[in-house]
Amino acid sequence: MAASMRAPGADIHAHRILILDFGAQYTQLIARRVRELGVYCEILPWDAGDEAVRAFGARGIILSGGPESVTDAEPPRAPEAVFRQGVPVLGICYGMQTMAAQLGGRVAPSSHREFGYAKVRRTGASRLLDGIEQEDARDPAELDVWMSHGDRVEALPPGFVPIAATANSPLAAMADEKRRFYGVQFHPEVTHTRAGVRILERFLREICACDALWDAGNIVADLSSRIREQVGGGRVLLGLSGGVDSSVVAALLHRAIGTQLSCVFVDHGLLRHAEGDQVMETFARHMGVSVIRVDAADRFFAALADEQDPERKRKIIGRLFIEIFEEQAHRLAGIEWLAQGTIYPDVIESAGARTGKAHVIKSHHNVGGLPERMKLRLLEPLRELFKDEVRRIGLELGLPRDMVYRHPFPGPGLGVRILGRVSREAADLLRRADAIFIDELRAHDLYDRVSQAMAVFLPVRSVAVMGDDRRYDWVIALRAVETVDFMTAHWARLPYEFLDHVARRIVNEVQGVSRVVYDISGKPPATIEWE
Ligand code: XMP
Repeated sequence: MAASMRAPGADIHAHRILILDFGAQYTQLIARRVRELGVYCEILPWDAGDEAVRAFGARGIILSGGPESVTDAEPPRAPEAVFRQGVPVLGICYGMQTMAAQLGGRVAPSSHREFGYAKVRRTGASRLLDGIEQEDARDPAELDVWMSHGDRVEALPPGFVPIAATANSPLAAMADEKRRFYGVQFHPEVTHTRAGVRILERFLREICACDALWDAGNIVADLSSRIREQVGGGRVLLGLSGGVDSSVVAALLHRAIGTQLSCVFVDHGLLRHAEGDQVMETFARHMGVSVIRVDAADRFFAALADEQDPERKRKIIGRLFIEIFEEQAHRLAGIEWLAQGTIYPDVIESAGARTGKAHVIKSHHNVGGLPERMKLRLLEPLRELFKDEVRRIGLELGLPRDMVYRHPFPGPGLGVRILGRVSREAADLLRRADAIFIDELRAHDLYDRVSQAMAVFLPVRSVAVMGDDRRYDWVIALRAVETVDFMTAHWARLPYEFLDHVARRIVNEVQGVSRVVYDISGKPPATIEWE
């Protein structure tokens, strides 16, 4: 990164926070909160080493929680450099415990595990917690917090004073004001800790003296100048799918390098209603991006004609997609870079702690072996950003809100929502049913309240009596889920009247459908997609 080439003061990474990850499920949440508060941060594994900590140049360091126990034989420890940098340190949960243990205090298993809501009471003055009160609190010294720990600090290290307690942990928070080291046993990053954001803000702004430089406008300006430095006069190729990440990459690269960008959009005939036209409308017509649209539906339907197995269908669609993309790439002369919509969670996942459990590296962003074969260099301008930041800069770049906040859509598209054999007829019918469901969700202000919604084509004929006719027509299933991480999900409790209205419209307007059912399965065991 050629940060030194930029004007002083323009570096929005200058005020940066390092988060050391001890394996807590909440670590990414800490990073998102820090970024939401306008401060750039990165996550490194706890065993990144002294040199990495020094080289990062943080204005403050946060030690995350984690599943281990400080009382184990060889517990994860923070690199010594953390405490030698002369910058403020905030230990959260396990982070507080390891800080206490490493600096000369004592940690022991608690006889009471604390899990869930707790009341913490300020017991001493500190820059971290003073004056932080909940509006409706009867006692201004009390805060509602979220706890999740088995061990507790029993003796503070030299230099520290107690600053808060719960019924079970007399030392639930600690401070060493001279060195600006703080520890909290609770989790300020989760919303259940009602004053949590203000505590983090206090740490970042006042204790670490970080300015709020990290906002959508600055991020776009910074990314654009870095992209220009990186690619110079080179030409860049991007596979545009219509999904959020590749759309934002397209808009960003267009802002940064204009006509040096070429996009390929492969329409496999398994897209949502009007999706291909929308992509062309937004990018080619409105923004003037160079987009090659390849209408490849015939090739996809032909290749899928005899296949029923979901995984083999996925492979066929993936392989053909790469084939077509490559054909187009070869036609464009002088391309040096391949752009991809890799985002920060993908990067973190592939760089877990060396001693932690192995993480699977996501490969769905990679367009086959294209970069090596064509000697292309990879350009991944979103690799520092979380999904919510990607969305915010998408809006900043002028993309329509509907596109930026669209539900996720799988790469194989309707190919995995038409159960069994895929045909053009089934795709057309499903597309229309899906469009009715999605339009009605939007019209009833329900779209943003569910995480993902879809119609699914069931290859089952069911009887219907329409007028005097007895017909055997297809069945459409509707699915809507609520989820945070897409790993687990609840079915959405959509109102009966709404479902009734959607079902009537589908049966009346989509010829060939006789029956509509609503999927009430949770994940696990049922996946979100039906195939
Ligand atoms: P499942 O069905 O596994 O889906 O519960 C979880 C999330 O992943 C999406 N999904 C896919 N995305 N290619 C993709 O790009 C796929 O083959 C694929 N299968 C599932 C799904 O839509 C949901 O958001």
